[in-house]
Amino acid sequence: MKAVNPLVVFFLLIALGACKSENNTQDTMSASDRKWWKEAVIYQIYPRSFQDSDGDGVGDLKGIISRLDYIKSLGIDAVWLNPIYASPNDDNGYDISDYRSIMAEFGTMQDFDALLKGMHDRGIKLVMDVVVNHSSDEHEWFKQSRSSRTNPYRDYYHWWPAEQGTPPYRYSLFDVNHDAWKYDSLTDAYYLHYFSRKQPDLNWENPKLRQEVYDIMKFWADKGVDGFRLDAFQFAAKDTTFPVFPKGYEKNFTQYYAMQGNLHEYLKEMNREVFSKYDVMSVAEGAGNTFEDAHNLVDADRNELNMAYAFEGVDLAKPEGYSVLKFKEVFSRWDSSFAEKGWLAIFLANHDQARMVSRFGNDSPAFRAPSSKMLSTFIMTMRGTPYYYYGDELGMTNGGFERIEDFRDIQTLNEFEYQKNRGADMAEVLERKQFESRDNGRTPFQWDATKNAGFTKGTPWIKVGPNYQTVNAAAEEKDPNSCLNYFRALVKLRKDNLALVYGDYTLLDKDNPDTYSYTRELDGKKFLIMLNFKGTPAGTQTGLDLSKAKVILGNYPQPSTDGRLKPYEAVVYEIP
Ligand code: GLC
Repeated sequence: MKAVNPLVVFFLLIALGACKSENNTQDTMSASDRKWWKEAVIYQIYPRSFQDSDGDGVGDLKGIISRLDYIKSLGIDAVWLNPIYASPNDDNGYDISDYRSIMAEFGTMQDFDALLKGMHDRGIKLVMDVVVNHSSDEHEWFKQSRSSRTNPYRDYYHWWPAEQGTPPYRYSLFDVNHDAWKYDSLTDAYYLHYFSRKQPDLNWENPKLRQEVYDIMKFWADKGVDGFRLDAFQFAAKDTTFPVFPKGYEKNFTQYYAMQGNLHEYLKEMNREVFSKYDVMSVAEGAGNTFEDAHNLVDADRNELNMAYAFEGVDLAKPEGYSVLKFKEVFSRWDSSFAEKGWLAIFLANHDQARMVSRFGNDSPAFRAPSSKMLSTFIMTMRGTPYYYYGDELGMTNGGFERIEDFRDIQTLNEFEYQKNRGADMAEVLERKQFESRDNGRTPFQWDATKNAGFTKGTPWIKVGPNYQTVNAAAEEKDPNSCLNYFRALVKLRKDNLALVYGDYTLLDKDNPDTYSYTRELDGKKFLIMLNFKGTPAGTQTGLDLSKAKVILGNYPQPSTDGRLKPYEAVVYEIP
């Protein structure tokens, strides 16, 4: 036998040691703990407003296809598409009349197949919205259901026969009277709709309905989609005896609507029937009322869902402002409750909110870019899967709607009507909606400085944002310091560092009312993130020795190195 050269052994050991420390994270993160959907950055596209290809003023699938290279250039891993199914668009696609076909305005099934292929060719996954707490009243199921009391589809929805008197009050989020029971003279009965009158609630207590939904999900999973977002699903199960709720319950309606009855049984069944058979991820809108509720949805050993998104954080921003202390407390509490088990989404905006920078940052010209970058830094350095809303990478702002006629959203329009009927001060109501209406987050993507921001050659379905001539992708592409290029750097940073995905989170300088500082740490790799949430300089005492810290990324050309942060400054350091 040939003697082994001790020098070779020595170098081999060193090389192995080097590999070991490089792959350290992989060593301690067991393969079963690591999941693509935990490591992914998910980019949300509101298809109606992304890119119009045929000049009808409405975004469409061909439009998205034409922008796939842009989407890829962001470095993101997956796209969540808001609903694209056939719909009369009472609630922009959240009222589905056929779950197996594409909304006429958005294109055809061929377009969908091309879109999915175009994404997969680029290594991007697709997450579909599944809206099954309710359907459209124009769905065939509902047409049948309402046609007679003995129709086989009657039990696909919730009906209350009028001879039993008026049903116990149920609050509707979108109804013009906030009344969730709509009387239908055809069969002398009321049907239930937690959202608009054109969104009747499906009866999940009916096993036939549940099977129909699983078949629909399989139809899309067979096409190769990579995940499902379950819209409003926390409300799906109901106590169908419809007990009387205490007066005023509507102020806290989720306590009465969320996680009722057999919801978890239905999710386990859905998991058995659908999720377990495909390589798909699942995320629920809403996480119930307690951490226990949230864990019951997402803990892996329960075989229900992969993750949920909770609203406590995103709901903090109010027209009168919000407390940074509270913001830190909420996000830290959610993080610590999921530190050992379970997984969450992290986000500050989506299609149900006004724009992130207008709500949580400062959209004045001087601070729009730094505050938007600072908020993006927060999202991309926290634990949980980031859900990042289209246009936030440009620092797009609220819509600048001046008149009631500028709004399009059913929730906003019905609220105007409701407030008018009760004699409210409409100037005040308008002012509030200018800040918080969902339409603010639904204005066309600002591609360039040409007419309609390059979104459409026709008349856009909703006004284009007021600042598209300066805030647009074409201009930001050219500027190395733009929000867009900063976002790309953030995505890369997260993708390159598992510590930012899985690492322990520690809040520092907890009582500082202006700044948010924390570390993320995994296997000896430690990042310090310092964020100034205010438009004035602020100091932060992290107790860490910054002299040895290396600046990895910051939203100012000269990042702070002494704990004194400039207005809305964000800095990410690596701590040796
Ligand atoms: C969810 C959606 C929202 C929709 C509602 C009814 O909250 O995110 O956009 O209006 O459900 O489907």
